[in-house]
Amino acid sequence: MRLVNIADVEPNSMIAKPVYDSKLSLLINKGVKLTPGILKKMIESDIRHLYIQDSYSEGIILEPMISDEIKLQAITIMKEIYESQVQKQNQNTDTLREATIRKLKDLVDDIITEIYSKTDERYYSTEFMGVEIYHYNHAVEVMILALLIGRKLGLDRERLIKLGMGAILADIGKSRVPQEILNKKGKLEPHEFEEMKRHVDYSYHILKELTGLSSLSRQIVLLHHEKLDGSGYPNGFSGDQIPLLVRIATVCDIFSAIVADRTYNTRISVDTAIEILRSAAPLKIDQDVFVTLLQVIDMYPPGTLVELGNGKLCIVIRNNPNSPTRPVLREIIIGKPADVSEEIDLMKEFTLFIKKVVPRLPSE
Ligand SMILES: [Fe+2]
Repeated sequence: MRLVNIADVEPNSMIAKPVYDSKLSLLINKGVKLTPGILKKMIESDIRHLYIQDSYSEGIILEPMISDEIKLQAITIMKEIYESQVQKQNQNTDTLREATIRKLKDLVDDIITEIYSKTDERYYSTEFMGVEIYHYNHAVEVMILALLIGRKLGLDRERLIKLGMGAILADIGKSRVPQEILNKKGKLEPHEFEEMKRHVDYSYHILKELTGLSSLSRQIVLLHHEKLDGSGYPNGFSGDQIPLLVRIATVCDIFSAIVADRTYNTRISVDTAIEILRSAAPLKIDQDVFVTLLQVIDMYPPGTLVELGNGKLCIVIRNNPNSPTRPVLREIIIGKPADVSEEIDLMKEFTLFIKKVVPRLPSE
């Protein structure tokens, strides 16, 4: 299984992960062979990437650290909260029901339990594809990454829950940003960007009455776009004015936004996203948090296409947990079915190295 841009999908590929509609019901299940009609339907639904199974990705399994079931529950709750805000935005009934927040808190707690049960694994996103699912997916990814970093930095469970809640709810105010700005393809005009920045105030306003939400979580919501050098918003806070939990959420938010950016036909790879973040640390983001992110994420998720230093094209089969830049690979020869028995373990082949991630197969 591997992630491909919809423009690169061969008509006879097989869907390897379900795609959901705007009600979070199944649009297309896994195992379905892609016909031109299905592809057209997905393009019309603005679905831009798919997980497919083809001869090159035979036998490659993407086993998510956090189960799809629990992620889908989180996405469903976020959708409920988000939509309740869209409906309420012209009225003065801002208070989210405390029960929804309790439900979300229980879920964050469940995700912490899952994370604690898998000590050595590195995280890679197995994104949910679906109509209008993008914003909820991002919120859930930021929360999971924040919990992984928080745990590695030694936060206790109580603080992890506060961190997770702040991280997942930080962008809830985007429900009040006009759709045409929120979903605009391409660069925002200055006045549109100003409106987009207001999502922080909207988020804080939506959440401020809730007694079930801690002040630390609220702080994350309010400050998640501040930067250490004072160049962020809304307050232009700098240095010590930005607490650790906020710094964690900020790094995760930026990282997740880069790797899940849908505005380009070619996804930005994890290693490129890391280089972009590296250029921001330590002036804008927290250096320790950034270094910890490197310890919890998978640099080359299974299914990633890579070019080796010797020019060979390969696909990542699985990772070596302690050596994130030296996974196990399989060579790809275009036009030839993959030899699934042939593995190249970069932990054993010391003269080989990954030169770069390749966005698509030469024939795609
Ligand atoms: Fe935000």
